[in-house]
Amino acid sequence: MTRQAQHGFVTSLESAWDGTCLDANLEHTLHEGRPLWVRYDLPGVGRAASREALAARPLTMWRYRELLPFPLGREPVSLQEAVTPLLRTDRLAAELGFRNLWIKDESRLPTGSFKDRGMAVAVNMALGFGRRRFIAPTNGNAGGALAAYASAAGAEAFVFMPRDTPTPNVIECMQYGAHTYFVDGLISDCGRITRDLTEELDCFDMSTLKEPYRIEGKKTMGLELAEQCDWSLPDVIVYPTGGGTGLIGMWKAFGELRELGWLRADTLPRMVAVQSDGCAPIVRAFEAGQRLAEPWENARCAAPGIRVPSAVGDFMILDAVRDSGGCAVAVPDDRIATWQRLGTGLTGLSICPEAAACIGALITLRDRDLVAPDEKIVVFNTASAHKYDHTYPCDVPVIDPSRPVRPQLRL
Ligand SMILES: Cc1ncc(COP(=O)(O)O)c(C=O)c1O
Repeated sequence: MTRQAQHGFVTSLESAWDGTCLDANLEHTLHEGRPLWVRYDLPGVGRAASREALAARPLTMWRYRELLPFPLGREPVSLQEAVTPLLRTDRLAAELGFRNLWIKDESRLPTGSFKDRGMAVAVNMALGFGRRRFIAPTNGNAGGALAAYASAAGAEAFVFMPRDTPTPNVIECMQYGAHTYFVDGLISDCGRITRDLTEELDCFDMSTLKEPYRIEGKKTMGLELAEQCDWSLPDVIVYPTGGGTGLIGMWKAFGELRELGWLRADTLPRMVAVQSDGCAPIVRAFEAGQRLAEPWENARCAAPGIRVPSAVGDFMILDAVRDSGGCAVAVPDDRIATWQRLGTGLTGLSICPEAAACIGALITLRDRDLVAPDEKIVVFNTASAHKYDHTYPCDVPVIDPSRPVRPQLRL
């Protein structure tokens, strides 16, 4: 714990495990090994902001600033984190046997993934605490986002990633000027290296849920979704789950909106956590009725963002899924590339492998009667397909220039 800052309507930090309250004006990481929630003076937020007042604000995630941990009078370091579109996808819906399927397309954010939301808030908070050096383990996208915000802030980033991280992610981190390292291992090994170096390099540790602020940035996915749906939430949210910050953040957002009285109905969406059968610790714990998830051995996954063998916020993910009446679903890893092609081909969106896993999960949800054909479903496309180079085989036909070309027609 060091240094002082004032953070808008934030009242305290609270242990997600045992409710211990800590001073939000001091810098904290985990409390006794468990993550912290940021708590707000919600009646105060309700007096300072309203659904109507929001309508006049610029279309960036900072429109929800009363519900973010950031000094109200200051301007954040920002890359213009635009509100991402929510698109109805009728062709994909018809293919999968649904009638009301939507995709929230996070690929439009500055570095092409939803990780920008969390890093935007966390980097600003760390700067507020006087920090200029950040460190994180990454499966790719978080590293890219951290590197970008560090670059925008004139700060320094250290990122540690598995050796098989997609090349576009690696290049991105290097181009933004981050100290970029491969680790012969998985993200959990990168996490251990990060932990060992944090103090030595005098860094602010940006590891998933080891600081309380990234989750607050991710919360804006839920706030935006609520506003885009005119304050009536969908029936089901299908989300690719690794460390869990996106799912936990959205669930927190819905709780805060309900407490503020901004939602039209009290029912909240059923949250579906999607993993691959090559790395499904949350699904296994969900099915076994456990609150904590055992680490997954020999994790493999075609969608790097959800190859997380052990999540420090496992119980927060499982609590959110269970409280919402949702479920956790594992899909066959070897089908992810096929679903990516299907999703991209039927939507025109740049579908990432993690969202492709969610498309596969929709088939399971349909077959197990866990979601009805008419229910309103929102899938999160958490990143752009351009950030990956391993799931898409370039099996294009080769033309001999000396022969006539006869393309195959589809329509
Ligand atoms: C594209 C993508 N989707 C989903 C995830 C899972 O993130 P989380 O479970 O922390 O929200 C990640 C994490 O790296 C990711 O990069």
